[in-house]
Amino acid sequence: MTFRKSTNDRARQAFALAVLSTLSLAAGAAIAAPDSITQKPFGTAPGGQKVSLYTLTNRSGMVVKITNYGGIVTSILVPDRNGKLGDVVLGYDNVAGYIKGSPYFGALVGRYANRIAKGKFTLNNKTYTLAVNNGVNHLHGGKIGFDKKVWMASPVRVSNGVGLSLNLHSADMEEGYPGNLAVHVVYSLTNDNALKIVYTATTDKATVLNLTNHSYFNLNGAGSGTVLDQTMMINASRYTPIDKTSIPFGLLAPVAGTPFDFRRPHAIGARINMANLQLKNGAGYDHNFVLNHTGNSLVLAARAYSPKTGRVLTVSTTEPGVQLYTGNFLDGTNIGKGGKAYNKRGAFCLETQHFPDSPNQKAFPTTTLRPGQVYRQTTIDKFSTR
Ligand code: GLA
Repeated sequence: MTFRKSTNDRARQAFALAVLSTLSLAAGAAIAAPDSITQKPFGTAPGGQKVSLYTLTNRSGMVVKITNYGGIVTSILVPDRNGKLGDVVLGYDNVAGYIKGSPYFGALVGRYANRIAKGKFTLNNKTYTLAVNNGVNHLHGGKIGFDKKVWMASPVRVSNGVGLSLNLHSADMEEGYPGNLAVHVVYSLTNDNALKIVYTATTDKATVLNLTNHSYFNLNGAGSGTVLDQTMMINASRYTPIDKTSIPFGLLAPVAGTPFDFRRPHAIGARINMANLQLKNGAGYDHNFVLNHTGNSLVLAARAYSPKTGRVLTVSTTEPGVQLYTGNFLDGTNIGKGGKAYNKRGAFCLETQHFPDSPNQKAFPTTTLRPGQVYRQTTIDKFSTR
């Protein structure tokens, strides 16, 4: 299916219809066309809803698969330096895998990505209590976070690519958070091999919000060993050191002279086993980096590279922080796509975000969203080779 340049509503509608009719005709089969989006069944959510898997293909042949269960990116197929496609994210072959137990593989995480200390925060003189689901803290939105919700999905036209629009209504006091929240996420696969994620949200009561995508990347291919030889650059001169429950102390500490200095690219594994209290607290890298960023424009956050395959991932974001997590808790018990086991350090995550525990940390950029305001975030994962 080729897209026309026109962006008027009629063309958009015609496109959506064309996609839908192609879907019913082709029943999920690949479309012999430059760029396309197809839909097929992916299983049943715990609430009985049927969920789908959407396959987005761009003109260069890059493929991104997304399910409306959790807004999860299940596969990203990108070429290596010889042009061979490989799947660079961890995930499962069907929704049952994600339901059975997934450490947020590829998911949209909310309402609050990362931790809120002791599952409590105060807003407008009222204290809110959230699920404590990670030691003594609240993690990734609670028991049934956005990663476990069925989102409303529809294919959309985007400039220079194909897109999937996802919508979610999160009710007032769901998981203990105030406000009816309307969340809208658009994933776009553009023809320059970038996956762009645009988030917007509004609320009818003051609340806190921190959204991210939790893809686990391995540039050698999911399930093909550790990422320790892959190199990482993070555009951050400071990071937020954590206590032994992974809550930031509140200071923005310089990375200079520490294993957290990724300003020049080096192997992820080069310093991961150093005797360092912060590495001990995170069981490896599981820390928020303060991006060298003023304002909320799109800025380079990180660049990862696999010397073996030549694949490069460049992440840009409008967010103030990025969490580097090096799959420290993977232990081979998650058997993913194609029956491959995901072992410790078998992936890295670059979760673009506001800083962990911001609702309790006065010095951090605010995560409060008030009625009349619009939450906005853009993150771009761009793939290339060298
Ligand atoms: C984030 C957290 C980690 C871990 C993973 C999921 O990266 O910071 O501690 O919870 O998500 O396993």
